[in-house]
Amino acid sequence: MSTSKPHDLILFGATGVTGRQMCMHLLAHAPRSLRWAIAGRSAARLEALLGELAPPGDAPSIVIADSEDAASTRDMVRSTRVLLHAAGPYAVHGEACFRACIEHATDYLDIGGETYFLQRMIRTHHAAAERRGVKLVPVAGYEALPFDLATLLAVRALRQRFDAPCAEVKAVVTFQSHGPLSANAGLSGGSVGTIKNVLAFDDVGALNDPACLLPADVPADAIRRRNAIDYRPHFDPDVDAVTGPLFPAPFLNVPVVVRSAHLYEGAGEPYGPAFRYREATSLRSVTEWRGLQWLGASALGANYFGLSALLRFGPRPARRAVNRVLDLVAPAPGQGPSDASMESIDYRIDLFARSEKEDQVRGSVTGKGHPGYRSTATMAAESALALALDRDRLTPFSGILTPAAGLGLGVRDRLKTAGIELSID
Ligand SMILES: NC(=O)c1ccc[n+]([C@@H]2O[C@H](COP(=O)([O-])OP(=O)(O)OC[C@H]3O[C@@H](n4cnc5c(N)ncnc54)[C@H](OP(=O)(O)O)[C@@H]3O)[C@@H](O)[C@H]2O)c1
Repeated sequence: MSTSKPHDLILFGATGVTGRQMCMHLLAHAPRSLRWAIAGRSAARLEALLGELAPPGDAPSIVIADSEDAASTRDMVRSTRVLLHAAGPYAVHGEACFRACIEHATDYLDIGGETYFLQRMIRTHHAAAERRGVKLVPVAGYEALPFDLATLLAVRALRQRFDAPCAEVKAVVTFQSHGPLSANAGLSGGSVGTIKNVLAFDDVGALNDPACLLPADVPADAIRRRNAIDYRPHFDPDVDAVTGPLFPAPFLNVPVVVRSAHLYEGAGEPYGPAFRYREATSLRSVTEWRGLQWLGASALGANYFGLSALLRFGPRPARRAVNRVLDLVAPAPGQGPSDASMESIDYRIDLFARSEKEDQVRGSVTGKGHPGYRSTATMAAESALALALDRDRLTPFSGILTPAAGLGLGVRDRLKTAGIELSID
């Protein structure tokens, strides 16, 4: 482990809803030898967090950095081998961190979801990051890490068992709630901020483009057609339930998985010449009644189709009007699900993969805790620990990557510690 930098890992944005959960996980699971710190813009809030969570004498150090101040961001990045970035939304001030990580050879992991921003980062900075040998792994929360890694696992299983390229991976999520859910068990203020950023600033159509994270010169029309988001409800006999688009957002996993397939193809391990990724939510998550499942799936589809149409055709005033409504009704930054809700939701992703010759493999991912904020936090924290402690067990890729390309299946054992198990039947 290089000791030329004072920190192995810095958690930036530790005071947020997700950052706090990450901090709890690191306090419980980071080895004592790890030199780590929490970072943010307010010393008082960071000290209060440690006062509440850390046992006396066992606290990480504190670093002050404000993402609106490029110098403080650069100093923070320079001081660590790995930056775990939870101070989203990322689009407005995030570029300074990408630049600094490349300049100072700091590996990076975030849980962002603003694909229009990521497209610009990839097209501007991927080549430099690759040359520097730095791993930048965005979108490593519930969206899109488990889906992306599970797809890689299924693709490899088809190849190992049948020596066959993959034609399709389908992922179907079922949520299980088993305790009290508070009224605000859904989105946090930080996630709402991401949606507002997309509505305000996605002028490149990334939200509607499954190929938005590919390099601009890759011919992608066929990839777009194969991986187009399906907003319609379906009865899926594989899970014996009606399914609708992925909840809470069907726009992130697809471009991430498509980018992973592109990166692995570039490294001589193609997923398949006509590889396609599909995903859905099983409405069994909310009811066993088939009629209500159709109703729920239709409502989900109409909601996301509306958002997609707003981004595609909506004039700026309409987008601004939606953001004003969100300001009135949605949680503010820093607000999110209660601690009880964090414990009350688990999830299962059923995987169905087939080759061009119709060979099949099935598998699953099971995750413990609220997918958006508990499971996201623990998987991101373990993945950041993997970058800091087990980098030689991860993939050889560098650049602006995806969970499958940046971490790969070498992170699977660590994910067990985060309550996430990936398996193939
Ligand atoms: N991919 C996924 O599955 C997934 C899941 C969950 C969340 N997310 C994303 O994660 C991000 C965070 O969500 P959240 O709910 O945790 O947000 P949050 O509770 O609002 O927390 C935001 C954090 O950012 C910090 N921050 C804000 N502005 C800053 C600045 N100028 N300089 C330094 N720190 C600053 C805040 O610090 P203060 O305490 O000082 O305000 C806080 O620690 C969002 O982008 C959300 O979309 C993604």
